[in-house]
Amino acid sequence: MRAWPIAAAKYLGIALLAVPLLGFAAYSLRFGIRGFGVDLTQETYIYTPDGPFTNAAIFSHMVLGGLIMMLAPLQVIGRLRTNYPRVHRITGRAIVAASLIVALGGLSYIALRGTLAGPLMDAGFALYGGLMLWAAVQTLRFARAGEVDRHGSWALRLLVLVMGSLIYRLHYVIWYILTDGLWSNEQLDGPFDKIQYFAFYLPYLAALEVWIRRRGRHGARSSCAGSVR
Ligand code: HEM
Repeated sequence: MRAWPIAAAKYLGIALLAVPLLGFAAYSLRFGIRGFGVDLTQETYIYTPDGPFTNAAIFSHMVLGGLIMMLAPLQVIGRLRTNYPRVHRITGRAIVAASLIVALGGLSYIALRGTLAGPLMDAGFALYGGLMLWAAVQTLRFARAGEVDRHGSWALRLLVLVMGSLIYRLHYVIWYILTDGLWSNEQLDGPFDKIQYFAFYLPYLAALEVWIRRRGRHGARSSCAGSVR
């Protein structure tokens, strides 16, 4: 009897998350595709006039970033994994490859141009890119080794990092609604902006670590109980 309100809340939650996710992924895809075909010098500081490599790095990172943001959440749906393992494997490989390009594209842009706000923002985003590279490599490595639990944990870390880019924007939306942009400015170097350089991924990764460890302990306890029986 109590099952349907829980299911309804779950689907409502998913729908509420899907709207900003699809909106930002579409924005990122469109921005990236335009960056390849149109001179955006007048529109955005991110475009580098006469900088084909820098533009290729940052705009390919936007196109592939938009794509993995839409694909990665599907990989955690258990029913899809069980019923279509081949699709899970092919999509998983594509996500890992795209994540590597997204991270390397962002890191190349930081090395060549630097971020809008300078060294501290460079550091926050470079760490973000480095962690994405690491998580992508580990996800594939443990899948290939058949270590399902460790593969799953790394895949979740990668998912959190992929979602980080959306979370970064959502933090700003919520903060501007609540405070009208207190401690934030267009150069992105206000106190709020500085916290943001790291706050869109580190706390979420930390929360995930706690969850993974707890799940591990519960798993170990139930397998101990199983061996006694
Ligand atoms: C799914 C993942 C990602 C998506 C969808 C994404 C998307 C975008 C978009 C749309 C922009 C343009 C700025 C805007 O309009 O807000 C951007 C900028 C940028 N991204 Fe990403 N990104 C992702 C991951 C990463 C990663 C992992 C790095 C780290 C290396 C990174 C580094 C940057 C940098 C340095 C900029 C320019 C920042 C500035 O100076 O304003 N991105 N990204």
